[in-house]
Amino acid sequence: MHKILVTGGAGFIGSNFVEHLVRETDASVSVLDKLTYAANREAIDALPEGRVRLVVGDVADAGTVDPLVAEHDAVVHFAAESHNDNSLNDPSPFVHTNLVGTFTLLEAVRRHGTRFHHVSTDEVYGDLALDDPERFTESTPYNPSSPYSSTKAGSDLLVRAWVRSFGVAATLSNCSNNYGPYQHVEKFIPRQITNVLDGRRPKLYGQGLNVRDWIHTEDHSRAVRTILEDGKIGETYLIGADGEKNNREVVETILEIMGQPTDAYDLVTDRPGHDLRYAIDSTKLRTELGWEPRFTDFRAGLEATVAWYRDHEEWWRPMKDSVEARYAEAGQ
Ligand code: NAD
Ligand code: DAU
Repeated sequence: MHKILVTGGAGFIGSNFVEHLVRETDASVSVLDKLTYAANREAIDALPEGRVRLVVGDVADAGTVDPLVAEHDAVVHFAAESHNDNSLNDPSPFVHTNLVGTFTLLEAVRRHGTRFHHVSTDEVYGDLALDDPERFTESTPYNPSSPYSSTKAGSDLLVRAWVRSFGVAATLSNCSNNYGPYQHVEKFIPRQITNVLDGRRPKLYGQGLNVRDWIHTEDHSRAVRTILEDGKIGETYLIGADGEKNNREVVETILEIMGQPTDAYDLVTDRPGHDLRYAIDSTKLRTELGWEPRFTDFRAGLEATVAWYRDHEEWWRPMKDSVEARYAEAGQ
């Protein structure tokens, strides 16, 4: 796989994956990205010239997608509308990009016999009770809650059908919550770090007791590359790093790292349909493909992330006020 097309390669995780490929392989990488509000063009522009080509376009546009897919050995599909809160305000771009976009790519890889990896989320499985000893596995039934997670679930099912009905050479992965540099300030961890940097109090939805299973984005990128290289066609792999924490614990740790009292946060209006808990059992990926997470010290990872946002104000500042204005309208 020498020529790899990465959709959504200018996004938070996609740009980390592209940087990973440039650092760890000699692949020639193309990025197909619409450069929506969520894109980090800077992260791609910072990579060595000649290693990465950026094509600005829509994954749902067959006229762009088809000739591009024809030039590559593999497609790794990150492009998506990714934020649950936005999907509650306007689901339409989620249906377009996550469903029609995935369909358009599948038709192209079917036509050209191209290897495909589909990047998805643990949210397709719905949520778990806080005291449930179970975690999600590859055989957990699909039960998505939000417009975002239902369009991701639909996209997974399209991929599975294209494997079975048309013999497309695809693998799938469903990962837990990522954190790290270049994550948009609308998301939980960057929002709270930049709130504290701005002298605002962190905002916890509801009682702050919902649990997420945190993984560093670099561990996610390495897992995707492992599956791309060694995964079995047609198989799904869950990616997680045993990082369960409730939102209150995360905010308290951020406040402590940033030298603030650990109770200096506000409880705000809850997210409608807010999933209680996600938890991943990644035994299959670990035992069959030998992947292990490396960023297992969550506090150290958060410290590095706080330092990154402190040092990159010029990157997040232009987005901050409009994001906070939108949240304020929703009482959050
Ligand atoms: P992101 O919102 O940061 O980035 C998405 C990227 O896709 C952006 O660069 C955007 O410009 C691009 N894009 C959006 N619509 C497009 C379109 N129609 N055509 C081409 N490009 C388009 O998202 P992220 O957090 O990096 O997530 C990447 C992928 O990983 C998504 O598929 C998401 O479902 C999945 N995922 C994310 C997480 C997480 O915690 N963030 C966890 C598991 C899985
Ligand atoms: O589980 C994987 C998913 O993780 C990905 O598929 C999504 O693309 C990604 O956005 C993320 O979804 P979440 O909804 O879990 O992430 P978010 O950062 O929006 O919120 C994390 C938790 O924090 C969630 O319980 C809601 C809560 N929250 C969020 C914000 C923005 C707050 O309490 N306060 C906030 O200000």
